[in-house]
Amino acid sequence: MRTARTTQDGARIYRALLLPFYDFLIMKVLSPYVWRCPSHHYVDLYRNFMSRNHADIGVGTGYVLDRCEFKPDEARIALFDLQQNCLDYTAKRLARFHPEVYQCDAMEAIRVTADRFDSIALGGILHCVPGNMEKKGAVFEAIKPLMRSGANLFGYTILNQGIKKTLVSRMIYFILQKLRVINGLDDSAYQLSLELKKRFKFINVKVIGCVALFAAHSPI
Ligand SMILES: C[S@@+](CC[C@H](N)C(=O)[O-])C[C@H]1O[C@@H](n2cnc3c(N)ncnc32)[C@H](O)[C@@H]1O
Repeated sequence: MRTARTTQDGARIYRALLLPFYDFLIMKVLSPYVWRCPSHHYVDLYRNFMSRNHADIGVGTGYVLDRCEFKPDEARIALFDLQQNCLDYTAKRLARFHPEVYQCDAMEAIRVTADRFDSIALGGILHCVPGNMEKKGAVFEAIKPLMRSGANLFGYTILNQGIKKTLVSRMIYFILQKLRVINGLDDSAYQLSLELKKRFKFINVKVIGCVALFAAHSPI
C-alpha cells in the first residue's frame, strides 16, 4: 500500500534534481558574475589549506573538494552535511578517496568518535545557516571537537555588509534571501573576523567581490 505524500517527497526530488545543475549555476555563473569571485579562488584555498586528514562541512556537490591536489587514497576525507542527498552525491563523486560520511547539523555540537582532523573546510555553509555572525559562530563551536591542535580551518561565505555591490548582486541577494537560500543580511568581514578571533590564535579574512575567503588555525 502506498503511503500518503509528504512535503518531504517533493523537496527530496527537487533537491536531487537540482544538484547536477548546482556546479554550473553557482561556480560558473553566480560566483564569477554576480558575486565577482571566480571559483578558482575556492580551489586555491583548498590547495593552500587542505591537509591529508580533512573534514568538509556542508559539502554541496563536492565541486571544489573534487579539485583538490591529492591523488586517490593520499588523503583521509570525511564529509559532513545536513542533507543525505548531498552526502550521497559527493561521496560518489569522491569515491576514489573512500570518504567517511556523517549526517549532522553543523549548528549543533558534532559528536563523532572518529579521529580528529588536521583541516576543516566550511565552504559556502555560513551564508546558509540562520542568524547573525554571532549566532553562526555556533558552527565554529560545533566543529571544535573535530580539530586537532594546530588544525587549519578555512572557507568562504557570501557577505551583505561592507562590500561593493552591483545592481545585479543586490537583486540576486535580495531574491535568494527572500527564498531563504541565503541567510545573513548583517554578515560582514568584520563580524566574521570577530567570531574567528574569539576562537583561533591566527586568522585571515580576505574579501573578493561579495565573498569573504577565510582561514584560521590553532583553536584557542
Ligand atoms: C551552498 S552549499 C556549499 C557546498 C560546497 N561546500 C561548495 O562550496 O560548493 C551549502 C551546503 O551546506 C549544507 N548545510 C546547510 N546548512 C547546514 C547545517 N546546518 N549543517 C550541515 N550542513 C548544512 C547544505 O546541505 C549544502 O550542502
